[in-house]
Amino acid sequence: MKILVTDRDGVEHSLDAIEGWRVMEIIRDRGLPIKAECGGACACATCHVYVDETWQARLPEPTDEEIDMLDNALEVEDNSRLSCQIIFNPEYDGLKVTLAPEDM
Ligand code: FES
Repeated sequence: MKILVTDRDGVEHSLDAIEGWRVMEIIRDRGLPIKAECGGACACATCHVYVDETWQARLPEPTDEEIDMLDNALEVEDNSRLSCQIIFNPEYDGLKVTLAPEDM
C-alpha cells in the first residue's frame, strides 16, 4: 500500500503506508519535511497538507477540533487537512496529498 506525497518542490514521492499510522507519521518516517510539532495531537497545524480533489470525498469529514486548528495554518484551501488526523487504512491505498507551505 502506498500514499503519494508531492513535496514543496513539486516532486511526487510514493511512500509505503502502514495501516493504523497517521498520514503525518508516514510522511515524517519516510524523511519528507513535515514539522508536525505537536506529534499528532491536533494542536499545532504544522502537518497541513492539501488532499487531491479525487480523494477529498473519500476521507471522513474533519472534526471541529481539526477545523479550529486549521485556522492557524497558512494558505488554507478547501482541500486542506491536518495529516495527523487522517489514520491510514487500506481503503486509502493511493491517497494523494501535497505538503502545504511552511511558516519560515
Ligand atoms: Fe500537530 Fe498535526 S502534528 S496538528
